[in-house]
Amino acid sequence: MANTILVGAQWGDEGKGKIIDVLTEQADVVVRTQGGNNAGHTVFIGKQKYVLHLVPSGILRKRKLCVVGNGVVIDPVSLVAEIDGLRQFGVKCEGNLFISETAHLVFPYHRELDAQREILKGKNKIGTTKRGIGPAYGDKAARTGARMIDLINPPRFEEVLRNKIKENNEILKAFGAKPLSFKKVHAAYRAAGDRLKPFVVNTVVLLHEAVRQQKDILFEGAQGTFLDLDHGTYPFVTSSNTTAGGACTGSGVPPHRMDRVVGVMKAYTTRVGEGPLPTESAEIADMLHAMGREFGATTGRARRCGWFDAVATRQATMVNGIDELAITNVDGLDTLEVIKACVGYRIGTRRYDYVPNDIELLSKCQPIYAEFPGWRRPTHDTRHWKELPARARAYLKAIAELTGARLAIASVGPAREQTIFL
Ligand code: IMP
Repeated sequence: MANTILVGAQWGDEGKGKIIDVLTEQADVVVRTQGGNNAGHTVFIGKQKYVLHLVPSGILRKRKLCVVGNGVVIDPVSLVAEIDGLRQFGVKCEGNLFISETAHLVFPYHRELDAQREILKGKNKIGTTKRGIGPAYGDKAARTGARMIDLINPPRFEEVLRNKIKENNEILKAFGAKPLSFKKVHAAYRAAGDRLKPFVVNTVVLLHEAVRQQKDILFEGAQGTFLDLDHGTYPFVTSSNTTAGGACTGSGVPPHRMDRVVGVMKAYTTRVGEGPLPTESAEIADMLHAMGREFGATTGRARRCGWFDAVATRQATMVNGIDELAITNVDGLDTLEVIKACVGYRIGTRRYDYVPNDIELLSKCQPIYAEFPGWRRPTHDTRHWKELPARARAYLKAIAELTGARLAIASVGPAREQTIFL
């Protein structure tokens, strides 16, 4: 399979979890490199549904080395809960899961600050997952964070935490929020630290050994291109680099060891949280929600929905260097008579073929649509490209061409077998 970076080409929730699970069959090592438990990767195996937040989806297959890289921010208490939850399903992490000693920690004050800042922003709120992701990465960048290596060193952790709680309680008080008890946080984090210690290693050395042995590595992206801290619709973004470069910095594996980039995108567009979504449409949102689709895996929020946006996905191809595309949720469009895809933006008479950086400008962009006839047939039982309705094939080929990468996978449902390879 070679070393593959998998990214979301839209605003997250592109169905990456399932595609990662499918590609993992050919991988030896699966690595998470950014984000935290704001991510929710849903995977169905048979009738069983798994929602993974921090543990790489590779854990659901036997004998895959799973790595949580240095670029991830870890809430240790929730990671222990995730590991325990997996064990209840008979999935064993011991010996298969490795956690970077330099990954930063998320603390309860990060979550509280995340919530308080959102309240303060009022109508300009980002719509975060309230998992403390922004404040945790903020501490990392400000060099005031704490890492896994601190958590598993009890005397050092006690000192570090005591100072952090003291400082952050002052900030929480200023927000009018309840201060935290050092004792309670310390007890919970120490217990989690003891549980996680066997998993904590120097993952850079481990990954370089895998590279040296020519193992196939899959770098699983979380969130999506337009939630990238640098390349997304700032400030309505997450706080990590969700684009392909993040796989290198978040793992320590250099760019020239990467062989290909796979971009995952839905056959339409969705977004959770605030911020511009040029092709947003009540028509498609109502239809998808009525089908019981498009509710968030992490927060359960109804996702905002819109038509496929090729301006955005073309830009995603540019920023990530996408070679191959996986288009998911094709079956979500099965009932439509006419399907629209945005081929450009317009403000007045001016046309844009890229996503403007100025958020105010982007909010004013009107989509220019191309229309495609719907296939109006269920596709979820399709297993081969030729079996797909001709109109579905034409639509998928057209949006891949507009995006500028080779269509490699089409997905017609959440199960592993509902995957068509081209
Ligand atoms: P945060 O990552 O919790 O700070 O949230 C920032 C923005 O990213 C919000 O709009 C969230 O809804 C969005 N976001 C974060 N993680 C995900 C994800 O896994 N899927 C989709 N959107 C996400």
